[in-house]
Amino acid sequence: MATTTATPDEHNAVVDNGAVVEDGVVNDGVAPAAGHDGVRRRDFIEIAAVSAAGMGGLVMVYPLISQMSPSADVLAESTTELDVGALEVGQSIKAVFRKQPVFVRRLTAAEIQQADAVSIDELRDPQTLAERTLVDHPDLLVVMGVCTHLGCVPLGAAEGENKGDYGGYFCPCHGSHYDTAARIRKGPAPTNLLVPEYSVNGTALVIGEA
Ligand code: FES
Repeated sequence: MATTTATPDEHNAVVDNGAVVEDGVVNDGVAPAAGHDGVRRRDFIEIAAVSAAGMGGLVMVYPLISQMSPSADVLAESTTELDVGALEVGQSIKAVFRKQPVFVRRLTAAEIQQADAVSIDELRDPQTLAERTLVDHPDLLVVMGVCTHLGCVPLGAAEGENKGDYGGYFCPCHGSHYDTAARIRKGPAPTNLLVPEYSVNGTALVIGEA
C-alpha cells in the first residue's frame, strides 16, 4: 500500500510552482505568523503531497516527478496521513488524497451550532453533521475538495476565500454553496461534498482507511 504523508520533520522539497516544502508545509515566500513548531498561525495550512512507495522506499514528490506516479491500482489503495495535532479551532488543512484535493477543518463551536440548527428536511442531501464526522471527533470535518456538480475545487479552505452564503465552501464555477458541514445548500451541485473514509489515531489523521 502506498502512503501519502505530510507530517512534520519528514519531507523538504521544491514543488513545481517554485514554492519550497518545509516540514510538509508549502513555503510560498510568505513569512509565517508566530506559532510553535513552525506551523503558520492562520486559518489555512497547505500541505504538499509527498508519497512513499513501499516500506522505507523511494520518496517521490508529485507533480515534480509526475511520470513516476504510482499505478492506478496502487493509487486506489493509497492513504494520506496528516498530523492534525497542531490544527487549531477554525483552521483548515488543504491536502491531497489520491490526486484529489481534500479539506480538513477543525470546526468552531459556532460552525457546529450552525450545522446542527438546520433541519435535515430542508437539505437536498439530508445528512446531519454527526453523520459526517467521527463520534470521538465531532469537530473534525474531512471532505473531498471536489464540487459534486462538475468537479471544480470549491473555495473556502484557504484564508480569505469566499465561503459562500452558508459559511462553508463555495464553488464559483456555477455557484454552489455548501454549509459548515459541507452540505449542499444552494446551486446546482446535487450532493454534499464527499466524506472519504478516514480514521484518527492520536494526532494522526489517516484518509483512505477507516
Ligand atoms: S462545478 Fe461546482 S457549481 Fe458547477
